[in-house]
Amino acid sequence: MILFSVGPGPGALSAPGISRELREADLDVEVILTPGARAFVGPAAFAGAVTTEPSTTPSALLFAPAASGTVARLARSLNGSSADTIYAGSVRPAFVAPDLDAATARHPAIRRNVAILREDGFRVIEGPSEGMASAGEVVAAVLGGRGGPLAGRRVVVTAGGTRESMDSVRFVGNRSSGKMGLAVAREALRLGAEVYVVAANVERKEPGVGWFPVESVREMKDTVLELAGEADALVMAAAVSDFTPAERVSEKVRRRDGLRVEFVPTDDILAEVRRAHPGLFLVGFAATHGDPVADAREKLTSKGANIIVGNDISQAGIGFGSEENEVHVVGEDEERFVPRASKTDVARVILDTMISEMNEEGRE
Ligand code: CTP
Repeated sequence: MILFSVGPGPGALSAPGISRELREADLDVEVILTPGARAFVGPAAFAGAVTTEPSTTPSALLFAPAASGTVARLARSLNGSSADTIYAGSVRPAFVAPDLDAATARHPAIRRNVAILREDGFRVIEGPSEGMASAGEVVAAVLGGRGGPLAGRRVVVTAGGTRESMDSVRFVGNRSSGKMGLAVAREALRLGAEVYVVAANVERKEPGVGWFPVESVREMKDTVLELAGEADALVMAAAVSDFTPAERVSEKVRRRDGLRVEFVPTDDILAEVRRAHPGLFLVGFAATHGDPVADAREKLTSKGANIIVGNDISQAGIGFGSEENEVHVVGEDEERFVPRASKTDVARVILDTMISEMNEEGRE
């Protein structure tokens, strides 16, 4: 059970969303709504999760928002008998999401208190220079900080399919539903990673992950390159358009004018990320008609990926849009065949191979 103490501060407004996302990720959450927090949000917003006494000893703690008073209380063990602080000395992991304005955050006493929290083994979830980290960041940090083979790792996953505009209303897209990428994201979370999803036209946000919606290859490339700097692994599960219109018309093309479109190749995101971040563990996908292993081996080298997941898209009922997939996971040292299975099972094998190859390389 995770005990979530909601303190006073504007960040309290995102607390119900944090609680809901943690529960959707199958965590047992009990919420302590401090008196000051009640000025911002009421117990009804937490759908029955609010309690005054935890039902059992929690296995993790979350203090969000933590205004300067909460930070001081935790650092100096003040008011140590309240329902939440009573566990603060003993239960780890314990997460603190400070919610401070810029001037308060710079105050030497506050900075000392934050430093004490770190020394005492609290995980401080950094926010922007002013205010609290976003709900997605808080949830990602909590889910990513619970242990497991990917604990302490940041994994970026792309999901869905890009769209390239032809004019103001039309685009060229593909049939990717995003299911494979989201299955990888969910599994990576379960294995303890901090997960960020770059979602190209995916309908529903996945709970528990940092969520970055994009539309085109260019937007995806910019977002991925930015996230890759802080990441340990990138799984490129999205179907990225290989082509984009050479020119984009800013208005709607009229039927009577006819439409001829010339396409040019897009930037290869995988290859660019590899150039910019040589140490990042890279997983790519290759959808082919024909021998998936030969194609995967070729792309392993040409793109500088560590793993290529190859699938034969000429078979009906697997891959694009469907619930199942059949793939060959081809790594530098090993190769695993996954006969027709749910995308969750496929994601497990991909991540299993990734973990074993990462450990082999001794990445820290
Ligand atoms: N990919 C990418 N950037 C692109 C196109 C593809 O990063 N502009 C990624 C995909 O997300 C996938 C991998 O590269 O993980 C392989 O995609 P694929 O389209 O099969 O590769 P291509 O290099 O375009 O090869 P092909 O000649 O087979 O089209």
